Amino acid sequence: MCGITGYIGYREAYPIIINGLKRLEYRGYDSAGVMLYDDGDVHLAKTKGKVSSLEEKVEQEIPNTGFVGVGHTRWATHGVPNDVNSHPHISKSGNLVIVHNGIIENYDSIKQELKSRGYTFHSDTDTEVLVNLIEEMKSQEGVKLGQAVQMALNQVIGAYAIAVFDKTKPNELVVARLGSPIAIGVGKDHEEFFIASDASPFIEFTKDAIYLEDEEMAIVKIGREVRVRKIKDDSLIDPNIQKLQLNLEQIEKGGYDHFMLKEIHEQPRAITDTFRGRLLVNEAIIKLSGLENNMKRFLNAERIIVVACGTSWHAGLVGEYIFEEFARIPVEVEYASEFRYRNPVISDKDIVIAISQSGETADTLAAIKLARSKGAFVFGICNVVGSSIARENDTGAYTHAGPEIGVASTKAFTTQITVLTLMALRLARAKGTMTSEDYRVHLRQLELIPDKVTEVLKTDEHVRNIASIYKDASNCLYLGRGFNFPVALEGALKLKEISYIHAEGYPAAEMKHGPIALIDKDMPVIVIATSKGHYEKVVSNIQEIKSRNGQIIAVVTEGDVTVKEIADHVIEIPETEEALSPLLTTIPLQLLSYYIAVMRGCNVDQPRNLAKSVTVE
Ligand code: G6P
Repeated sequence: MCGITGYIGYREAYPIIINGLKRLEYRGYDSAGVMLYDDGDVHLAKTKGKVSSLEEKVEQEIPNTGFVGVGHTRWATHGVPNDVNSHPHISKSGNLVIVHNGIIENYDSIKQELKSRGYTFHSDTDTEVLVNLIEEMKSQEGVKLGQAVQMALNQVIGAYAIAVFDKTKPNELVVARLGSPIAIGVGKDHEEFFIASDASPFIEFTKDAIYLEDEEMAIVKIGREVRVRKIKDDSLIDPNIQKLQLNLEQIEKGGYDHFMLKEIHEQPRAITDTFRGRLLVNEAIIKLSGLENNMKRFLNAERIIVVACGTSWHAGLVGEYIFEEFARIPVEVEYASEFRYRNPVISDKDIVIAISQSGETADTLAAIKLARSKGAFVFGICNVVGSSIARENDTGAYTHAGPEIGVASTKAFTTQITVLTLMALRLARAKGTMTSEDYRVHLRQLELIPDKVTEVLKTDEHVRNIASIYKDASNCLYLGRGFNFPVALEGALKLKEISYIHAEGYPAAEMKHGPIALIDKDMPVIVIATSKGHYEKVVSNIQEIKSRNGQIIAVVTEGDVTVKEIADHVIEIPETEEALSPLLTTIPLQLLSYYIAVMRGCNVDQPRNLAKSVTVE
């Protein structure tokens, strides 16, 4: 939640900060603010709304000059989104300025203490409390900014990534992290530095980045190497400067109207990248080093528990079907937020697979920590390289989908399923739970998936026409069975997230136990009816809906005859093995929700109230 940017150096800070905020807007976009320092003065502009509103405000209200500044785009936790609660926050004296991503849980008791010492507060935020606590520490004899930040952070409970500026020390910024990510871009000869929640705001300026670890802080000062310390004991740490692989093209829209549409169309490439070096069809080999190096543990596992949130949880559900079918290992799929608080029964015989696109989701991270503390072995499936979850695991596999910026997850989902499928097939081979012929068939079919996704993407125009018919619906039902039940859940989630139409996903047969009561002529029902997936049963479910006048949009296998006759619309996908079909059936559902949202005038990439990465509970 929330995006932070900062700059200190020899260039004008404002364009770097404002463009950086636009790239970080996926992290939150209910309010934004910027602080620019020029010639002894601190200039602050803050506003409710998106970064574009902030730009207008800056133009009207403050000079946009100066070589140092910080910016923030917010997803509200404490205090409603309004101008006052927006960051940056400034201390009582007006000297200290802070931007913060995270939550200070004990802010209220600190606030009362500071009030008794004469501090007054203008906002409802925990962040204003933190900046004043730093000021209070700094007011002590001989305490410098870095020390004051450190002393304050040692008193707070919660999560944070912060950047702090002191008007009396305009050549430096202090940054710190616990639980929320922060990166420092290091310019040539230490003449400039960039601060950001991820590296995207500064990739055109430097490829050298330091990612702070939890409980670390850094002082960045022009003309000097970055000094990184442990917040708790003040010990100095050698900063680990990494070379960024990211390029500008990957984080731009590349001619598409929205990131979401670009990312939907990137799926053939993304899945191919997930296969790279791992799927060797001719040799009939699957290589995933994290799995290979721990094969014994996997073979002895009594159970796999998947923990994840949102779309990643849906990928986990597909994984459950695939692991049980191929490798005959019992699987449980848990919402990370529930798992972490319900004293789950876990032992060292369990393997926990944590799935997260961002690798920063707070609940998933906490679930991993809990599982490891109980002796379970944790395998992580993440997209963002070097993310917190990727570092907390025992081992894992990256999805290599490339940056996903649209808040509604698309290519992350299909690439997560791809990794899970590779794992399940590899384990099936090792356990002998699949015949070698069947194994080879699945490998060959898997290799064909990217081309088949390209085929499905050609339904774009057809899906758009269907979207134009149903764009004004108030409710939608999504049905699927077996491997495609989680796809029904995911289709419904996509529609809810970006078009604000109420949608529910159900196992097709379960419809009879409730949702059928909702069906009338105004209810579109999206049914996945692939030829190998309990086809006759699904056809019966479709008939039950039709006889109650529901409108059927069916995703069927090429050449289908029966459903075509009953359904109002069909979308065809190429034939594949049923276990691999979610990689294809998902695509038209992504397109359908995309076009419906566009036609309803919704902000597809930044749906209301949502954020790409949920780093708070
Ligand atoms: C948020 C996003 C979803 C995502 C979920 C889990 O809710 O809006 O798109 O599926 O978090 O995120 P993760 O990064 O852990 O996959």
